[in-house]
Amino acid sequence: MRMYDIIKKKRDGGELSTEEIEFFVEGYTKGEIPDYQASAMTMAVFFQGMTPRETTDLTLAMARSGDMLDLSVLGDKTVDKHSTGGVGDKVTLVVAPIAAALGCTVAKMSGRGLGHTGGTVDKLESIPGFKVELGADEFFSQVKDIGISVIGQSSNLTPADKKLYALRDVTASVESLPLIASSIISKKLAGGSQHIVLDVTCGSGAFMKTPEAAEELAKAMVEIGNMAGRHMTAVITNMDTPLGINIGNILEVKEAIEVLLGGGPSDLRYVCTEIASYMYASCFDCSADEARPKVLEAISSGAAFQKLRAMVGAQGGDVRYIDDPSLFESSKYSYEIKCPEDGYITSMNAETIGIASVVLGAGRATLEDSIDYKAGISLIKKTGDRVNAGDTIAILYTDDESKIPEARDMILGCMKLSLTEPEEETLIYKVIK
Ligand code: URA
Repeated sequence: MRMYDIIKKKRDGGELSTEEIEFFVEGYTKGEIPDYQASAMTMAVFFQGMTPRETTDLTLAMARSGDMLDLSVLGDKTVDKHSTGGVGDKVTLVVAPIAAALGCTVAKMSGRGLGHTGGTVDKLESIPGFKVELGADEFFSQVKDIGISVIGQSSNLTPADKKLYALRDVTASVESLPLIASSIISKKLAGGSQHIVLDVTCGSGAFMKTPEAAEELAKAMVEIGNMAGRHMTAVITNMDTPLGINIGNILEVKEAIEVLLGGGPSDLRYVCTEIASYMYASCFDCSADEARPKVLEAISSGAAFQKLRAMVGAQGGDVRYIDDPSLFESSKYSYEIKCPEDGYITSMNAETIGIASVVLGAGRATLEDSIDYKAGISLIKKTGDRVNAGDTIAILYTDDESKIPEARDMILGCMKLSLTEPEEETLIYKVIK
């Protein structure tokens, strides 16, 4: 078999066999197929797509490219949750402790932020002392003791995805349904949980820009996961506007704590309640309507907050910061953006706001960049809000004062104002099982 022929077949719209897909994934993972051929291949897939059978084969080959975790010793209620990417998306920090407080087993590997989207691992690392790298024994024994651990991806989990994702990121081939579906589901299959809840985002801050495109992706991922014997649920959520108020690592940890204490912004509270309900419903085989009161009780009783505290303590984090978030360090500079005129905010571009937070230091442009955990943005006003000229619409936080004008102009430039009140945004479009 030759990689040249496989690329040509896909380029011309042919359907690849299981063997051809395995040849590509194995060869690329081992370094036998060079980057230039792999990038031609991903671009051919980008333009020609893949059949459901090809996408499934690609997913399984990627999942098997490294270690496949066996979580069966942890029982049958292991649950994982994955977002397809967003801005201000701190949902995992809220729903993982809720699910664990309700008896689900959360043994989860999360990623770092890249581009305009944030990553859970960076957010957890902003808690002083928190370790995201645990040995397998430590990881399993923590999950057995307290029902929850969230760590970074182990180095040999889906190495094919690590290489392919980095390649796609620099060759403009990220936004492809079969490539996104195989990237996400291969990691979830290798992660080993029986129950998988996907938060499939759509809108300006997501890879899928419309609910229809997100639904197509959600259906593909659910189908592959089900075929591999996992219980799948996909919740299609709105990412036209960043979720919650805060964007940036420490800022988002603080907001997640607020939600676990029964407060926080209503959009974030709602999305977290729903996703946690689907996690519980999948593990305990009930409906989301039956699960919801339990989720709300886990918050109001303080049990979910205590789970976060226990996880932070178990992973070396300083729990004083969880008990008193005012202890977190603040940025040297804060800058209030004022609204230029009266009206309603009718839209804001979540991707631009995510990039503005990266400009301020909250994210990284390449995986090697270091980040400033304190930096970020608080969106005081969001889509749908009535504003008057001179109102503060956002606060920027950074240690680098020179970045403020660029971030300010990006935010002002991506907000649209009108004198007509816009319709309320839908936060959850659909749930697919
Ligand atoms: N998240 C992933 O893990 N992979 C993709 O391809 C896109 C989003």
